[in-house]
Amino acid sequence: MPVRRITMIQFRNYQQNTFEFIPGMNILYGPNGSGKTTVLEAVHCLTVAKSFKTHSDKHLVQHETDFYQLEGEFSRDDTTDTVQLNYVPRQGKKLFINDAEQDKLSRVVGRYPVVTLTPEDSDITFGPPAVRRKYVNKIMSQASVEHMERLIQLQNVLKQRNAILQDAADANQQVDETLISVYDDQLIEAAAKIEQERQQFFGDFRQLFQEVYGKLNGLNRQVLIRFSPSVNYEDDTQFEAEFREALDRRRNQELAFRRTMVGPQSDTIDLYLDGNNLRDYGSQGEHKLVLIALKLAEGRYIVDAKGAAPIYLFDDLFAELDVERSQKILNAFDDRGQRLITSTDLSDVRQHGIDVSGQDIKIFDMAELRENGAAA
Ligand SMILES: Nc1ncnc2c1ncn2[C@@H]1O[C@H](COP(=O)(O)OP(=O)(O)OP(=O)(O)O)[C@@H](O)[C@H]1O
Ligand SMILES: [Mg+2]
Repeated sequence: MPVRRITMIQFRNYQQNTFEFIPGMNILYGPNGSGKTTVLEAVHCLTVAKSFKTHSDKHLVQHETDFYQLEGEFSRDDTTDTVQLNYVPRQGKKLFINDAEQDKLSRVVGRYPVVTLTPEDSDITFGPPAVRRKYVNKIMSQASVEHMERLIQLQNVLKQRNAILQDAADANQQVDETLISVYDDQLIEAAAKIEQERQQFFGDFRQLFQEVYGKLNGLNRQVLIRFSPSVNYEDDTQFEAEFREALDRRRNQELAFRRTMVGPQSDTIDLYLDGNNLRDYGSQGEHKLVLIALKLAEGRYIVDAKGAAPIYLFDDLFAELDVERSQKILNAFDDRGQRLITSTDLSDVRQHGIDVSGQDIKIFDMAELRENGAAA
């Protein structure tokens, strides 16, 4: 569902400002520090209930003020939803959907799916497996509320189980087997379902990713996303037995590391280009293209899962990309998806193949908005 309007109050550099978007292509251009990323961040906060830049909401509150407020209007056909997010330091965040206060912030996740591309995302291809796990968790959570809830449940079980391991390690004792077996059972139950859903996810996503990459870079190079669960098992019926055995085998290691060593939190996800691990061998440009292919594949996955295109929030899309690649990326977007794209320079946008005088495009000149007092 496209975002039609947002109002930011005391949100980073915005005192009180409104932006209205069209359902298709929106380009925000302006110099460094003019507030482009902040607009995308506001949409992200309204759709995922958190920022993509910081874990701490207090950074989002405008200096010298004491709260922020965001409001968004999402609409398609004759349905309009309003989402409001209020934050007061030390009191936390409150979420309202159509004026009804929500009991959990996670209630908004997946209602208006977003696909982001931000400078922070480069970690997805450059960083350690934990970053890719988090990325996959985000895609799957937006696609399925049940999956998100299972991940939260897994976190809770792990927290309690790890506390037992830590206590035993502190006391230099063996683990109380009856106590930990309760958590083993809960862990196995949550893990079995999550692993099953991940296998399913990768079955679909691997293909989408390869297709999109082929569109961007021709078919002469092969990409692969490889999922390796921390427990090996032949089929679902064997999962529980294999998992229990792995837990037993690793017990001493768990005590040494003071945490649970097997389960979905230890699965690895690797990216390969022509059979070589991208992290070890990829060039900058290769990394960026793989990242964009992941993001566009994510969009297609959401279309399949939710029956509607996501909102694409692509920050500084054209940086480091040649004109030919940019054209292919623009062609590979699902046209039904709303796009909010930022760039420092309009001529750069034009050069990279966007018809800025076209009909189905809205251009935001951030410097001008700022001068006229319409922004910041
Ligand atoms: N809490 C805050 N209070 C006031 N100003 C802030 C706050 N947080 C960030 N800013 C400022 O807001 C401005 C807008 O930042 P933003 O990242 O949106 O710019 P940008 O247009 O994306 O720039 P760039 O082209 O460099 O990426 C920056 O000058 C930043 O220092
Ligand atoms: Mg920026």
